[in-house]
Amino acid sequence: MAARFFDLDALGLALLEESKSRAATLRQQGTIPCLALVEVGDDPQSATYVSRKIEDCEKVGIAVRKIVLSESITQADLLEQILRLDEDSAITGILVQLPLPTHLEEGQVLQAISAEKDVDGLHPVNLLSLTTSDPSVIPCTVRGIDAVLQQAGLVLEGANVAVLGRGRLVGGPAALLLSGKSRNATVTILHRKSRNLKNVLKNSDVIIAAAGSAHLITSDMVRSGAVVIDVGMSWPEGSLQGDVHPAVADVASWMTPPDRSFGVMTRMMLLKTVLDLAEKRIA
Ligand code: GUN
Repeated sequence: MAARFFDLDALGLALLEESKSRAATLRQQGTIPCLALVEVGDDPQSATYVSRKIEDCEKVGIAVRKIVLSESITQADLLEQILRLDEDSAITGILVQLPLPTHLEEGQVLQAISAEKDVDGLHPVNLLSLTTSDPSVIPCTVRGIDAVLQQAGLVLEGANVAVLGRGRLVGGPAALLLSGKSRNATVTILHRKSRNLKNVLKNSDVIIAAAGSAHLITSDMVRSGAVVIDVGMSWPEGSLQGDVHPAVADVASWMTPPDRSFGVMTRMMLLKTVLDLAEKRIA
């Protein structure tokens, strides 16, 4: 079997056009969607991600408030800054770029954003809602994964799904959403201590790889016809590699394009979520 590759660019473009039209409608109704982007320190990768988010927002008509804070900011000062943004009625969504410097406690920072402005979907209230029949805010990369799964025409209910990785941004929330009452899959979370990696993968209808370990998943680990989504990224020899070996395309039915970033889906889903929250405010 030769896998079909998800066309991330076409999906991304369709999402961009949809967001342009939703932002225009909101503006006609007198609401300016406005995203506050908080960057702490000067990590070059975070700076690149934030710049791309700003470009995307500008393309579709979402206003941006960029706040750059010192690497050495205290937890108390950061929480105060977030509280100020949260109370500002002109701001409809807030995102604190992760990871934060290690002296800061991310969980507490994410809780300081009110659930109604939490475009990342990482506030505990929003995370818990992923397990219900009506999730409120789905974290951006997970929303992208959900969208490509729909394109594969897969019936998630009752399917065996392996999620490789249990990180805050992708693996953890992906497992909550897919095993929850809205998607009803049977989910196994695999991580660095898991013993039966190959057995679990081989028994999976869907594999979501979010480990950041180059080419960890090889074709002998994948069932014929499985749907494989690779959002893992690492740069072992300076160039981007996914978690999934390209030869997996010989056995999968659908797959993300090998060694290609899933970033376009994450970015487009962020726009969609910013608009969702801005629309909810006036509903
Ligand atoms: N850093 C890398 N990806 C993300 C993301 O989706 N949200 C936030 N807040 N930080 C990130």
